Amino acid sequence: MQSMASNVIVILGTGGTIAGQAASATDNVGYKAGQLSVASLVAAIPALAGLPLETEQVAQLDSKDMDFATWQRLAAAVDRHLARPEVGAVIITHGTDTLEETAYFLQRVLAPRKPVVMTAAMRPATALQADGPQNLLDAVAVAACPEATGVSVVLAGQVHGADQVQKAHSYRIDGFCSRDEAVVAWVEEGRVRTVGAWPHSGEALGLNRIARAAGAWPKVQILLNHASADGSLVQAMQAVGTAGIVVAGTGNGTLSQGLEQALLDAQAQGVKVLRSTRCQAGPVLDNGTGLASAGSLSPVKARVEMILQLLA
Ligand code: SIN
Repeated sequence: MQSMASNVIVILGTGGTIAGQAASATDNVGYKAGQLSVASLVAAIPALAGLPLETEQVAQLDSKDMDFATWQRLAAAVDRHLARPEVGAVIITHGTDTLEETAYFLQRVLAPRKPVVMTAAMRPATALQADGPQNLLDAVAVAACPEATGVSVVLAGQVHGADQVQKAHSYRIDGFCSRDEAVVAWVEEGRVRTVGAWPHSGEALGLNRIARAAGAWPKVQILLNHASADGSLVQAMQAVGTAGIVVAGTGNGTLSQGLEQALLDAQAQGVKVLRSTRCQAGPVLDNGTGLASAGSLSPVKARVEMILQLLA
């Protein structure tokens, strides 16, 4: 591990498979996420003993159930700790399922200069070959890396930026990738080798932007284009008070004629619409349809972006 300044690293726990337990050590999928405390995850790694680490349990959930209220609490906790002069970085343990959404949310709301390093595991803590301990150890190496900045995600020795990271496999240990292969760094035996650009700070939207009661956040839905897609779901979404729709189009965000017309009609009635793509890589370029592009954002991140814009 690279030399660690005297800075404190705060590790915030939110649950996930990294804190999951199965009845049998050979069971990698039939487990319950969010069972072990973040303090016990840290205590289980001898190499972390004696380092200036603090832990705080912000939530304890399976990240498929991540919600706006937890995002508010998490962003406030990260902000509070980063404001402490003795704190050099914050690490967040999280479930893999919605990790990329939380990462993007924190990057846009806080745009931290100090590193905020998220990590997770594809296998529960009880597995014969659990990946959580190594991932957490690697996250500490990234947190102590002088080059690190912004919100990054560390799994399987790879460091991804909040904008590009996405879960790409349902169960493999190396289940994450960076969109358009924009990997930021590798962690090799505790040393961080930067190969790309760390998430830059940009302008933080700030905690005031997300202060509205979680139950009153705008409803933004995701829709897919596919063979024989029509506009009926758009009308159903409007009927339940949807303020925004992100459509994951085919290829360059293209849409069937029926779906495109329904979205143009919804937009004319005040619903915000963004065109993204169901492809795993590549941006959506303007195609003159009158529906704005989500650029390089994946559909789930475009949804976070639209929620944050609608909260303004
Ligand atoms: C979760 O996302 O909380 C469960 C799945 C995982 O962490 O891999």
